[in-house]
Amino acid sequence: MEHLAIIMDGNGRWAKARGLPRSEGHRAGGETVRRVLGFCKDAGIRYLTLYAFSVENWKRPKEEVEALMSLLVAYLAGEESMLHEHQVRLRVMGQKEDLPEKVQAAIAHVETATVHYERQLILCLSYGGRTEIVSAAKRLAQLAAAGELDPATIDEAAFKGQLYLPDVPDPDLIVRTSGEMRLSNFLLWQASYSEFYVTPVLWPDFNRADFDAALAAFGKRERRYGGL
Ligand code: IPE
Ligand code: IPE
Ligand code: MG
Repeated sequence: MEHLAIIMDGNGRWAKARGLPRSEGHRAGGETVRRVLGFCKDAGIRYLTLYAFSVENWKRPKEEVEALMSLLVAYLAGEESMLHEHQVRLRVMGQKEDLPEKVQAAIAHVETATVHYERQLILCLSYGGRTEIVSAAKRLAQLAAAGELDPATIDEAAFKGQLYLPDVPDPDLIVRTSGEMRLSNFLLWQASYSEFYVTPVLWPDFNRADFDAALAAFGKRERRYGGL
């Protein structure tokens, strides 16, 4: 498998079950991210995409959004050495301009510091699949209006070229933790032929055995892409 994508869900329920504030669940979720990066390295997975904050997540209470943004800054500062150790390039996709300045600065720093590595950790922040598709459509319309693009030439490849990270292959497998069976606006374009795997395990509890189970399930799938 070349590209694994994960909808990291269940941090809040994990904290609630322990009588802890939701922010503790997000902190524990950060530790899972660290573990999973190691699992991916062992499994030879080249791209790991993690859904960390959706455009819809801005609707959450101010305190939770602020706690998540602070954790992100701390995570990026704390994990830079780990990314070097594992030789992983960090890339962020989403409406970066909507993130607080300090988050943007932390992202820019780590993205630049790791730009030469081949394996990639892609963090989706302020990400929405519909927003991504709309911004691609808008960009194509702008190019056409400026006379730089003939609308007749727009095809799937041209459209994909305007997505956030056009060079990244589509995910082979999308895993969602916490048992919810929906995409929640994740990778709407890229997921068209991804395999989907849902585990009831909450993200902070997701361990090596859960990871191996997801990969084993994927290994048994027959991908037909509409053919026979
Ligand atoms: C996933 O955990 C992390 C984010 C969406 C930021 P949740 O915060 O959604 O946890 P639950 O779903 O409420 O348990
Ligand atoms: C999806 O989880 C977004 C992330 C994991 C970042 P949510 O918890 O926001 O999704 P819903 O609200 O259950 O669909
Ligand atoms: Mg959730």
